[in-house]
Amino acid sequence: MLTAEENQRLTQTGPGTPMGETFRHYWMPALLSRELPHPDCPPVRVRLLGEDFIAFRDSQGRAGLVEPRCPHRGADLFFGRSEGCGLRCTYHGWKFDTEGQCVDIPNVPEQVAKNLKPRASIRALNVEEGGDIIWAYFGEDAPPLPDFEFMSVPPEQRFVSKKFQQCNWAQACEGGLDTAHFSYLHAGVKDGEKAGLHQVDDRGRSHPVGENEPPSMARFRWLIEDGAPRFSVLDHAGGLLLCAARTADDDQLYWRMTQYLLPNHSLAPGNLPESTALANTWMPVDDESCWIFCYAWHPDREIGDAERARLDAGAGIFAEVDDGFVPIRRRENDYLIDRDLQREGTYTGIAGISEQDQAIADSQGLIADRTREMLVQTDLGVVRFREEIMRAADDVARGRAPKASRNSAAYRVRSGDYVAHEDVAIEEVVEARFGPFWGQSIAAG
Ligand code: FES
Ligand SMILES: [Fe+2]
Repeated sequence: MLTAEENQRLTQTGPGTPMGETFRHYWMPALLSRELPHPDCPPVRVRLLGEDFIAFRDSQGRAGLVEPRCPHRGADLFFGRSEGCGLRCTYHGWKFDTEGQCVDIPNVPEQVAKNLKPRASIRALNVEEGGDIIWAYFGEDAPPLPDFEFMSVPPEQRFVSKKFQQCNWAQACEGGLDTAHFSYLHAGVKDGEKAGLHQVDDRGRSHPVGENEPPSMARFRWLIEDGAPRFSVLDHAGGLLLCAARTADDDQLYWRMTQYLLPNHSLAPGNLPESTALANTWMPVDDESCWIFCYAWHPDREIGDAERARLDAGAGIFAEVDDGFVPIRRRENDYLIDRDLQREGTYTGIAGISEQDQAIADSQGLIADRTREMLVQTDLGVVRFREEIMRAADDVARGRAPKASRNSAAYRVRSGDYVAHEDVAIEEVVEARFGPFWGQSIAAG
């Protein structure tokens, strides 16, 4: 539970707010590279942390993020035209490069223009592209981009997208860190009873459930059978490794291990060794909405056409979205909840894992009221996340660089699942599953 003041501190990210200033110490995903598909393509509007920008790609392919207001008489540069390595205001032709410098003022004599240009520059964020994402840094002295694994693999080995969510970033992020909810929110229903997803598919067709299921199947049964996972949290230089252990078969434990990386990233559990890895960034648009950037990658092999098509259509953490990346099943249509499906099919009656997550986070309100909660042991990850991000905000308030903000290597971590005998200590589980990729030690960071 938080006080009203703490809840505000956690959830408000506009300019000048403590959390807003904290976010501005880290690189933020602003939009997908493919939203600016070619040099001199149409500019697009982008709202980040409660501020409006225009994104454009110049004739040489460089991306820029500038304030929308033309300094001449305030026209909106969204209506501008990207031409000759700059964005030209279509009112009287003033032109700006990706760094915000005014490079042409055609409606005055040359000498006047020369004097005016230095005073006519507009605000531009630091911009870099990596992992098919256009990243923005709000501050001056930008550090290197975070060294996420998905950004370092060849493009054929990853798929990235985004989806819009109509609620505050923090509760959406908490949903990604709270892996206990899988036992209900993402359960199926078979013969009127809660059942594993492997027993029920989206058409209610049953699959044989045998004694010798591989872990990739059996885990859906373990998720249903043990709804009270035991949480342990390990601290590292980039954030936290949140480990949830459930009872499996034959004195074994089924571990689901999630990464929280400062300030707004998570690497999802659910992938056993050899399967595709998944991660999200929970990017505030303003205090009542966010973009959820979704990343899928494989360290060693390509994401094949069939898998790519499945992810693009909205499988797993990806949502089924329209051309503007707004989910088809969303707040305003109650996520097309189907009460027949809820009786026999999926526990929520909502189709899609991502849509189930979005529905339930939205249902906590536009900004969740954390002054009226009853937290239990399975909320340990959520509690530790709040402590971690609040500590970062405290550091910023004291004039210090917050944790991991200048440590690119701290982001080279992995998440995932593992099955081990119940006597194996957590440190050994983590070592066996991730080796050095569990997290950089605090001392090193
Ligand atoms: S308002 Fe932009 S050039 Fe005049
Ligand atoms: Fe979920």
